[in-house]
Amino acid sequence: MKGLKMAQNSFIDFLGNRRSVTAKKMARGNINRDHLRQILSVGIRVPDHGALKPWRLVVITGAKRKQIDEEVIFPEFIKANPHASAENHSMEKTRLQRADVVIAVISSPVQHKSIPKWEMQLSAGAVCTTLLYAAQSLDYAAQWLTEWYSYNQEMLKTLGGEPGREQIAGFIYIGEKVTAPMERTRPNFETIVSYL
Ligand SMILES: Cc1cc2nc3c(=O)[nH]c(=O)nc-3n(C[C@H](O)[C@H](O)[C@H](O)COP(=O)(O)O)c2cc1C
Repeated sequence: MKGLKMAQNSFIDFLGNRRSVTAKKMARGNINRDHLRQILSVGIRVPDHGALKPWRLVVITGAKRKQIDEEVIFPEFIKANPHASAENHSMEKTRLQRADVVIAVISSPVQHKSIPKWEMQLSAGAVCTTLLYAAQSLDYAAQWLTEWYSYNQEMLKTLGGEPGREQIAGFIYIGEKVTAPMERTRPNFETIVSYL
């Protein structure tokens, strides 16, 4: 019982102190594959009304990151921004290569007689958050990003998604910490929270 209480205390402390390390600031690093399996397993253990499992994960790692950067993200960027700078070119060619592992979370709602699509999409958000926190709990640098390519239909198709029905809820970038992240501004408790 005491052990359980200590674990609970450290979990609440973790939630009160954790923070994201931006993809820009993380080192690509090397994510232990047992850790990755653990992160993915707990990431799909989330609240989900009706147990519909209205989400899927696509893990992008190894050579696939470069391939998608060069064959999907960069060409789609150039299509929309033909006059972009050389600096933009190099950024768009290496987006996914900022991390060792990038997990795409696909929101995949199903038809249901009473459970609204909105709740299925919220559950996909819960998957993103849980993946993020799981990676951070193992002391990895991690960030939830959408950036522009989450809304790109070619990107969705590359991930096996079905445009019109499925959407990318986010990409969870996981790498290694180089320096401890600075705390960001946090919401004012009194502004956000009210009691009735
Ligand atoms: C749905 C969603 C999409 C996000 N997309 C981006 C993004 O494209 N670019 C960005 O800089 N931050 C984005 N963020 C914000 C960061 O991931 C993160 O919230 C911020 O760095 C601080 O998070 P922390 O509370 O974990 O420290 C997004 C957050 C959410 C919830």
